Amino acid sequence: MRQIEDLNMKGKKVLIRCDFNVPIKNGKIIDDTRIKGSLKTIRYCMDQQAKIILLSHLGRIKEEEDLKKNTLLPVSKRLSKLLDRKVTFIDETRGKTLEKAIEELQKGEIILVQNTRYEDLDGKKESTNDEELGKYWASLGDFFINDAFGTIHRSHASNVGIASHIESATGFLVEKELNALSSLNRPESPFVVILGGSKVNDKIGVIEKLVTKADYILIGGGMAFTFLQSEGYNIGSSIVDYDSIDFCTKILKKYPTKILLPVDVNVTTEYSNDSLNKIKDITEISENEMGLDIGERTIEIYQRYLKDAKTVLWNGPLGVYEFQKYKNGTKKIMKFLVDHNIRTILGGGDIVAAASSIKLRDKVYHASTGGGATLEYLEGKKLPGLEIIK
Ligand code: 3PG
Repeated sequence: MRQIEDLNMKGKKVLIRCDFNVPIKNGKIIDDTRIKGSLKTIRYCMDQQAKIILLSHLGRIKEEEDLKKNTLLPVSKRLSKLLDRKVTFIDETRGKTLEKAIEELQKGEIILVQNTRYEDLDGKKESTNDEELGKYWASLGDFFINDAFGTIHRSHASNVGIASHIESATGFLVEKELNALSSLNRPESPFVVILGGSKVNDKIGVIEKLVTKADYILIGGGMAFTFLQSEGYNIGSSIVDYDSIDFCTKILKKYPTKILLPVDVNVTTEYSNDSLNKIKDITEISENEMGLDIGERTIEIYQRYLKDAKTVLWNGPLGVYEFQKYKNGTKKIMKFLVDHNIRTILGGGDIVAAASSIKLRDKVYHASTGGGATLEYLEGKKLPGLEIIK
């Protein structure tokens, strides 16, 4: 597969697909991990004196009202600050202004094009990889670099479409992600997987794949209650993914000692940080109580299983980390992994955001910028954004 360093890009127009799909609230970027993730590629292209044209999607555009709240303008400002360079923001995805700006671009200069999914308003052109749109964008550059790991599982005009028409390569972020994740194909054992988040259904493929490779799978988060329900526990008003109960029953039956469930949980009566909470054994949950985090005994047991691990893959928080009261499990387990220097890969948007919020993201071995992309990679699915470059 062609990589960024294989391209001779001096004075050439280089289109770089980034994943700048970052959380933004009231025009403010909450987490710029993904922007930082692409800096190495962008800086390299600047040093190589390429003329740089950046493309990214942001959010999902279904109707006119989605446009304003999904503008890439805040990203262009943050990027400019991080690079300490001017980034010219072009508020359109095609047309004369964009073409003129590219024509006038000097070596080492940077343009950021408006959100590629603005094209979705007109018949989902970006998301369905409209042939004409991919061809048009490709016509704007000499080379294409795909550095959008988080979007590599999508077949969009701005990744697969462009790459079908001009010489293309992967960027440094994509290479780094693939290196880290491919180490999980033959992980050093003991290999322990930690799975949290709310729904089992989204992760069935991953569980089926990983259960054959992992020594243990430690379950937490909302999904633990679907497993517990399948085992016949009363889980009160905790979240349940009814469609997945059969799956849980079967997999627990097949791997009774490999999949571990919480033995105690932190319960409350309202989905809020303010209602009263207490730690209860999983046999004692009342009808009106919901579990929002794993309990102390579970933390201790999980730490025992993690102590000797050589590789850990973690997808999904173990509790509602957004609430101060329920981040304990996620925080203690992550701190344990960091303190014991255990090679840990965080895969998935939520666990990486949780790691950021408890200020441990930079301390783990690898925090992936991909959510769905990481899961699909781990499931062994083909990733369209990569296949086309191969
Ligand atoms: C992500 O956040 O997982 C990627 O940016 C892809 O976004 P999407 O799920 O809206 O396609």
